[in-house]
Amino acid sequence: MVTEISKVDWDTSLETGIDDVDKQHRQYFVLLNDYLEKAAETATDRNQFFDLMEKLDFLQQYAKEHFSTEELIMQEAGFPDFESHRDEHLYFVQHVEELYTQLKSVGFTPELAREVNYYIIEWFVDHIRQADMELVEFLHTKVTWHRKIFDQLNKLFTSLFGKN
Ligand SMILES: [Fe+2]
Ligand SMILES: [Fe+2]
Repeated sequence: MVTEISKVDWDTSLETGIDDVDKQHRQYFVLLNDYLEKAAETATDRNQFFDLMEKLDFLQQYAKEHFSTEELIMQEAGFPDFESHRDEHLYFVQHVEELYTQLKSVGFTPELAREVNYYIIEWFVDHIRQADMELVEFLHTKVTWHRKIFDQLNKLFTSLFGKN
């Protein structure tokens, strides 16, 4: 059951090849595992609840920071699906914030913990595999395209003015 997950291993198939993004995804996994470990403890010892909420808050803040980085990359690169990608980020933030508030008022329940896990594990990993990878694909295509133009211009200059 998803509530009993206390660790999620980083999977190299999630690597995008974009340094900043990969570093942040890995750091997200570190914070995710911190939270999951604490959630497993809280399931049997409710005194851990305060620490658990703190870890969920860290994770959420980090996810927000990471989303901002990606949104900046998208805007700078002129990514055409910027809005739908940003909407996915907003969807995550909104749902995790709602669950955080619910946890705070209701306390730790296996049902709520399971719902939190759905967003912070499955949703996040699916988002990397689909939305983030689409962005990466676009960036790679763009770089290749620029390189081709550069090569063409180089050839043209060489043919017009000879070798440098
Ligand atoms: Fe991401
Ligand atoms: Fe993203």
